[in-house]
Amino acid sequence: MSEEEQNELRQKFLSRGYNSLLEYDELVAIGTIIYGDVKAVSLFGLTPKELFERDIRICARTGIEGVHDMKAVPCGLHLAEVIVERFPNKQVVGIAPFLGSGNLLYTTAKYTKAYDAFGFDNSRPVYELAVANYAKINFDAKLFYEDCANIAKLIRPLERSNAKNEVFFICINPPWGDAFDFTNGLRLNKTIPPFKHLIEMYTQQFATLSIVFVVILPEKVDEESLNELLSISSFYQIFYKGTRKALLILAPKSPSVNDK
Ligand SMILES: C[S@@+](CC[C@H](N)C(=O)[O-])C[C@H]1O[C@@H](n2cnc3c(N)ncnc32)[C@H](O)[C@@H]1O
Repeated sequence: MSEEEQNELRQKFLSRGYNSLLEYDELVAIGTIIYGDVKAVSLFGLTPKELFERDIRICARTGIEGVHDMKAVPCGLHLAEVIVERFPNKQVVGIAPFLGSGNLLYTTAKYTKAYDAFGFDNSRPVYELAVANYAKINFDAKLFYEDCANIAKLIRPLERSNAKNEVFFICINPPWGDAFDFTNGLRLNKTIPPFKHLIEMYTQQFATLSIVFVVILPEKVDEESLNELLSISSFYQIFYKGTRKALLILAPKSPSVNDK
């Protein structure tokens, strides 16, 4: 399929928004047309067929913008390696300020063996679906119908009794919306909110604690906006799938303490 056709398909699902559910054939179409493999759009380790058999559904916009297993599983594996290497004695806490399908939080928490997980979404239907879906797969996370700006008020990271022994990973995954298309890739400074703003905000809110940010990347990324993020990090690693960018893991500069 040409980039133009991929862009058209993406726009179709974006415009359906968060109030309309994705049908089975549509999820299959996203897998085969965008990724060339129906299993790429598995979620929670379940194929589209298994998801629908268990009545696990996602909304249309999340169907195209959510993080499917094809990206979530390698992300979980790489993140686990980075955490073991850089924070060897810490207990892991996972945070998804943009919960969406909940698959990225579930998968990263699974591979990093997180003992606590928090998810937030400011869309009521998305939040309600995630609550229902997590119950179906027995994943115990604390979910909130809440804006990404308010996560620290709810988690209260500095007041957690075990905070000094914890490492918090925060998945920065706002909707890509108009900041992405298959032709030009992702402009990280054009999402709402922009990635840099989010990283700076959470760096302040989690000051003095160990944190690491997780950014899922598409194949093409606007280099200037990527360099902006790298410039505010004390450590970063970009992971590739073949020659394609797939994932950025970064730790902020002071005020957080991120060394072993
Ligand atoms: C790209 S999806 C996240 C995908 C997710 N990581 C996954 O695994 O499917 C973005 C989500 O962010 C939510 N969202 C958008 N703006 C938000 C905000 N200001 N605060 C919290 N959630 C927001 C949307 O409702 C949407 O569900």
